[in-house]
Amino acid sequence: MSRRIDERTAAELLATFGPALGTRPTERRRPDGRNARLNQRAAPRRGFARPGHGWSPVAAPLQVYQAGTHEIGGLFPLLAASPLPAVGARMGYDVHSGGAFYLHPVEFVLRAICTNPNMILFGEPGRGKSSTVVAFLLRMMLTGVRTLISGDVKGEYTPLLHALGVTPIMLGRGSTARLNALDLGPLAARWDTWSTERQRDELDGVLGRWVQLLVALAEAQGYRPTVTDEAAVSAVLRQLLGVHDGYTNLKPITIPDVHKALADPDEQLWQELRFAGRRQFLDHLRSITDALANLISGPLAGLFDAATNFTVDWDAPIQSLDLSRLRTRGDQAIAVALTCLGSWSSLATDLQEDGELRIVVRDEIWRQLRLGLRAVQAVDSELRLSRAERKIQVLVSHKPGDFLSVGATGSQEVAIARDLLALCSIRVLLGQSTRVASELADVLALSEKEHEATTGWANDRQGRALWKIENRTGLKVQTVLSRIERQIFDTNSQLVSKPNPLPADAVSATSS
Ligand SMILES: Nc1ncnc2c1ncn2[C@@H]1O[C@H](COP(=O)(O)OP(=O)(O)OP(=O)(O)O)[C@@H](O)[C@H]1O
Ligand SMILES: [Mg+2]
Repeated sequence: MSRRIDERTAAELLATFGPALGTRPTERRRPDGRNARLNQRAAPRRGFARPGHGWSPVAAPLQVYQAGTHEIGGLFPLLAASPLPAVGARMGYDVHSGGAFYLHPVEFVLRAICTNPNMILFGEPGRGKSSTVVAFLLRMMLTGVRTLISGDVKGEYTPLLHALGVTPIMLGRGSTARLNALDLGPLAARWDTWSTERQRDELDGVLGRWVQLLVALAEAQGYRPTVTDEAAVSAVLRQLLGVHDGYTNLKPITIPDVHKALADPDEQLWQELRFAGRRQFLDHLRSITDALANLISGPLAGLFDAATNFTVDWDAPIQSLDLSRLRTRGDQAIAVALTCLGSWSSLATDLQEDGELRIVVRDEIWRQLRLGLRAVQAVDSELRLSRAERKIQVLVSHKPGDFLSVGATGSQEVAIARDLLALCSIRVLLGQSTRVASELADVLALSEKEHEATTGWANDRQGRALWKIENRTGLKVQTVLSRIERQIFDTNSQLVSKPNPLPADAVSATSS
C-alpha cells in the first residue's frame, strides 16, 4: 500500500481515538550507517521459501491485502460509518459500512448537511420507490410527524391507512365524496378570530393560489392563459368572495360560480378590468371561460365543482386522498385531480398552524407535471416553501426524463422542471436501465461509480438505492422492510388477487 505524504499512520489514527500506542524500536544504525539488529534473525525476512514455513511474498511484518473496503469492512477497524447523523427514521443499512442508515430531512437541514428537506425518488417500476416512502413515513410517525398522501393514483396506500385505523378519502366512482377545488378549508373557521390586517394577508395568499390553480386547469385544457385572463380570474374571485364588502363574511365559492361570473359578467367587473364593454370582455375571455366549463361538464364533472362534503381529521397520523377510482376517466382527469388536490392540500395544511412537521407525498408526480407550465410552477412554489411551512415534500417519479419532457426543449417549463431537482436535496436513486441511468448521471452529475451502482447493484434487489444528498458522495443503502410492512404494502399482490371492493365505510365515513 503506498502512503501519501498527507496521510496519517495507523498509530496516529488510533491515537486520535484513545491513548497513543506504544512504539517499538525497529532498527538500529551502526556507526558506519548500515542497519544493525540487536537480536539475531531466526529466519529470512520473508520466511523460508518452503511450504509450511510461512514464506510471504512481502517483507514481514507487513502483510499486504488487496480488496475493496466493502469486502474487508468487517476486518478493517477504521472504516468510516455513514457520515449522516443517527436521527429520524431508521431506513435500513449502508452497505459499505454495514451501519444503520437514518433519515431525517429536517435535521439534515438544521445540521447543514443539505439546504432543503425535500426528497425525490427515481426508479424503474417495481423497484421499491413507494415502499421506501412508506418505510420513511411509518418510522417518522414514531417521532410524531404526520403524513398527507396528496393523491394516491393507484390506491396503494389505502391498505396502509386501514391498518393504521384511518379511513382514506376516496374520490370517483362509487364514492359520494366531493372536494371543492376552491375550498376555504380551515380559513373559514379562523376568519373571525383574525385582525383585518391578518385577514388581508391570508386572503391574498389564498387568492394567489386559486388564480394559479384555475389558470393551471385552463392550461390543462390546451389553452395558455394570458396575464389579462389571470387578472380577470383574480377580480372574479375577489368579487365572489365578497372581499369588497369590508371583509366581514367569506362566501364559499366553487368553479361553476367562477365560470358563471366570466360567462355572464356584471358591469362592475368589466369596468374594473377596463374593458370597453361587455361584448369585448366576453370575446377576450372566451377561451378561459370555455376551459373552465370543461371542468364542470368533462370527465371530472361533480368531483371538484361542488361544496366539500367530508371533513378531514388532521390529527390522524396519516391522511390520503385515494384517486384509484378515477382511473377510468383517463390520464388527463387524473392529472387535473392531482393539481386540484395539490392546491387544496397545501392550503389546508398551511393553515393547520399546529406547528408540527408534515410529510406531503406526491407519488407519480410526472402525471401532474405533464399538464404544462402552470402545473410545474405550482410544484415549484410548493418545494420552495417547504422550509418555511415545516413540510417535507416527497416526490416520486420514474426518471428525470419525466421532468425534462414537460414541454418543448428550451421552454420555460422544462427550465423550471429541471430546477425542481435542485429543490430536492435528497435524491434516492433506485435501479434503472442503462439508458435512463446515463440521463440521471448527466442531470445529477454522478460519478462513474455512482452511475454503475444505479444500473448494476441497485437492480439486484428491491429497496436498494444510491442515496445522493446534494453533492456528497452517494451512499449505497438497502431499505429494510419489516414483515408487517411488506404485508400491508405489497403492491405486487394486485397481480394475484383482485383489488378490494370499495370498503363499506369509505363512502359513509367520508360523506357528511
Ligand atoms: N426493501 C424492500 N424489501 C423487500 N421487498 C420490497 C422492498 N421494496 C419493495 N419491495 C416489494 O417490491 C414490490 C414493488 O414495490 P413498490 O410498489 O414500492 O415499487 P415502485 O417502485 O413504487 O413501483 P411503481 O413504479 O410501479 O409504483 C412490492 O410488492 C414491495 O413489497
Ligand atoms: Mg409506486
